[in-house]
Order: sequence, then structure tokens, then C-alpha cells
Amino acid sequence: MTTGELNRGELKYEGKAKRVYATANPAEYIVEYKDDATAFNAQKRGTWEGKGQTNNAITAHLYPQLEAAGIPTHFIEKLDDRHQRVKAVVIVPVEVIVRNVAAGSFSKRLGIEEGTPLSRPVVEYCYKSDALGDPLINSDTAIALGWATQEDLKTIRELALKVRDFLTDYFAQRGVRLIDFKLEFGKLADGEIVLADEISPDTCRFWDATTNEKLDKDRFRRDLGGEAEAYAEMLRRVTTEV
Ligand code: TMP
Repeated sequence: MTTGELNRGELKYEGKAKRVYATANPAEYIVEYKDDATAFNAQKRGTWEGKGQTNNAITAHLYPQLEAAGIPTHFIEKLDDRHQRVKAVVIVPVEVIVRNVAAGSFSKRLGIEEGTPLSRPVVEYCYKSDALGDPLINSDTAIALGWATQEDLKTIRELALKVRDFLTDYFAQRGVRLIDFKLEFGKLADGEIVLADEISPDTCRFWDATTNEKLDKDRFRRDLGGEAEAYAEMLRRVTTEV
């Protein structure tokens, strides 16, 4: 399918790694995955061929399984290598991070060595604002500033932990430790909260279960090299039948 046949409408939103287009149906959007990568709030930029296709394929493989596990999502179908059809949502401007193992900003902030297992999953919230670098917030802040209601946050936390249970097991069965990940949620026109955005090596930390080799965007963030190969390996593992 060429992009001309996608019937994309107006560009609604352009993020660092994706574009979101309106369609003739107000209840649906088309998401386009780009090959661009950024890190540290876009201070570091890169691009590699196949990144968009890989993240699209990984997300499109996981979302129907999350739906089957009882997690409502915005996903409708994969259209082609770069595009997905999704339900139109208004994104809740609260990024949800779930951690199984200390790493990244958690390790830095608290002085906990990367790789230290956590005795229970940790859910963190950040305000989705590129201008401010997605600062850490708590639920009171989100409620007080009207970004989400108490009820929304209860639903979001429960869904995030359900996603965590599903994905941790899913990746363990494929030889991958799910260290942490970031989710975004959206609201449908009727107010229902659904999982939105992508689940990919851009938004998760994946370590090989045997070697602890990093198979995610930390390869790019930390100049380790081999990012294209790591993403391709994660697509291979995600699509492995066990
Ligand atoms: P952090 O340790 O840098 O806070 O990242 C936690 C997780 O969230 C990690 O899996 C990467 C993901 N993440 C995003 O998806 N987008 C972001 O902007 C950041 C900072 C992290």
C-alpha cells in the first residue's frame, strides 16, 4: 500500500518518533512511525533505517495480545510497514513508568545501582511536556492541575500493572528481562481510558536474560552501537511462538 492509499487527513500531532493523522472518520487516527530517534529530551538525535518499521511491527504484535489479556487499547490494525489505524483519543498528559529493576533515571536519582531488582513494581508519573523535559510528578499534582481525575489515575495504575504482569511474563518466555517501560493512556470520546502510544525498544528497557546485554534504546542513548541489530533482535523475539 502506498501512503496515497492510506487516506490520511490533516496532521494532528508530530512527536519525536511518530506522526498522528486525522482520517475521514473522526473516531479514528492513523499513526506513522518515523526512523528518527532522540534522547535526553531531543538533545541527542539520530536516525536508522528500519527503526519505524520495527517499532510498528513490535507494537502491532503486542497490542492485540494485551487486548486479549483484558487491557483496552487504541489499536485497531497495522496498515503497512509504517502505519497503524487506531481509535482517536485525547492523550492524558501523564506518562506512566513501571519499573521491575532499578535503571536509568531511577538509579541516578536515588543512587541505586543499575540492575538492582525491586521487591515490588514501582509506578512513577511524569508530566508529558517536551519543553520541561517530562518532569517527575505525583498523582496529587496531576489531579490538582486537571490532567487526570483520581478515578482516571486509579484506572491507569491498575491497567499499567496489568500490562506489567503480561509483558514481564511474555518477555521472560522469550529470554528477555523487562527492566522498565513507559506507557501513555488516552481517553476515547465516551471518556473510557485506553492504552495508547507504542510499546517498543524506544519505550522499554530490555536486557537479554542470559547475558544482560541491552536490547533497547539505551544502545543509542549511551553510544553503545548496534541499535538497529538490537531492535531487529527484539522484533524476532517478540514474534517468536513459545
Ligand atoms: P528513565 O529511567 O530514563 O526514566 O526511563 C524509564 C523508562 O521509560 C525506560 O524504559 C525508557 C522509557 N522512556 C520513554 O519511553 N520516554 C522518555 O522520554 C524517557 C525519559 C524514558
